[in-house]
Amino acid sequence: MDSSLDELIAQARDRFAQAGDAATLENEKAVFLGKQGSLTALLKGLAALQGEEKRTRGAQINQAKQQVEALLNTRRGELAQAELDRRLAAETIDVTLPGRGRGVGGIHPVIRTWQRVEQIFRSIGFDVADGPEIENDWTNFTALNNPENHPARSMQDTFYVDMNDAGGLPLVLRTHTSPMQVRYARMNKPPIKVIAPGRTYRVDSDATHSPMFHQVEGLWIAEDISFADLKGVYTNFLRAFFETDDLTLRFRPSFFPFTEPSAEIDMMFTSGPNQGRWLEISGSGQVHPQVVRNFGLDPERYIGFAFGSGLERLTMLRYGVDDLRQFFEGDLRFLRQFND
Ligand code: DAH
Repeated sequence: MDSSLDELIAQARDRFAQAGDAATLENEKAVFLGKQGSLTALLKGLAALQGEEKRTRGAQINQAKQQVEALLNTRRGELAQAELDRRLAAETIDVTLPGRGRGVGGIHPVIRTWQRVEQIFRSIGFDVADGPEIENDWTNFTALNNPENHPARSMQDTFYVDMNDAGGLPLVLRTHTSPMQVRYARMNKPPIKVIAPGRTYRVDSDATHSPMFHQVEGLWIAEDISFADLKGVYTNFLRAFFETDDLTLRFRPSFFPFTEPSAEIDMMFTSGPNQGRWLEISGSGQVHPQVVRNFGLDPERYIGFAFGSGLERLTMLRYGVDDLRQFFEGDLRFLRQFND
């Protein structure tokens, strides 16, 4: 083959290699093989030749043409492969990456206690009520027989809520669930038999106090409900809650403005690891006549008891937790223990 054909082939190899995509390559093809292409021109030139010379030259040009076509096809293949590789890389899915699974949640130990308390009291005929955590001063204090400026108000270091338009009444984060006695009793007819579990707030924080904590209020008002009923109900509750009959109760005289007489309920396990120690568990008492009046009821006719117990306290005793702050730190290693 003569050197000009070799050169033409080398040129084609070069230009095809430089074509970076299919469209450019097809343009380069036209330079050699198109109607105006150099090889096409050479083939046309054969017309001027005769005999042996024409045959030899024709064969050479055809061979060169086949080589250019082969180079073209090879380059087409390379470009198609490169395009495929590029797309595969761009659209790749790493199947080895672990999925973002949703963790399975668990029930917080204090909420477990809450649910358990509801279940036990429902089983002995108590209704379950819910009320606002932002409470007005009257319902949180006054209706519960705390006179204005009485030191009892500061006994429960109160978070006051700064609201311009509360109808002139100060608002507080409820310091106890006792205002639910008032709300429920004013909306329902006796006999009233209700518990009201929920969140409560005080300016207080140490190993046994948290600014947010939980209480459950109990109230039973009818024509003939006495302290003896309180003792029966609360003993039954604690035995069910701790799943043991091996505990006794003691009612220790105390003071709350909304009960008269008032008592602190202490309990003692008579078997097991905590046996023999009195543990303070709840405030309680016979509802004060003035509070019954504030319920909108006649205290000459209606009488009953109330109690208010801390849900954290019950939870700590049930599970043997000694620092209340652990409930609110959100440490999963601690919380998981209650969800096996
Ligand atoms: N509200 C009281 C407190 O938070 C607890 C309490 C005591 C509730 C006696 C009652 C009760 O219903 O009768 O300290």
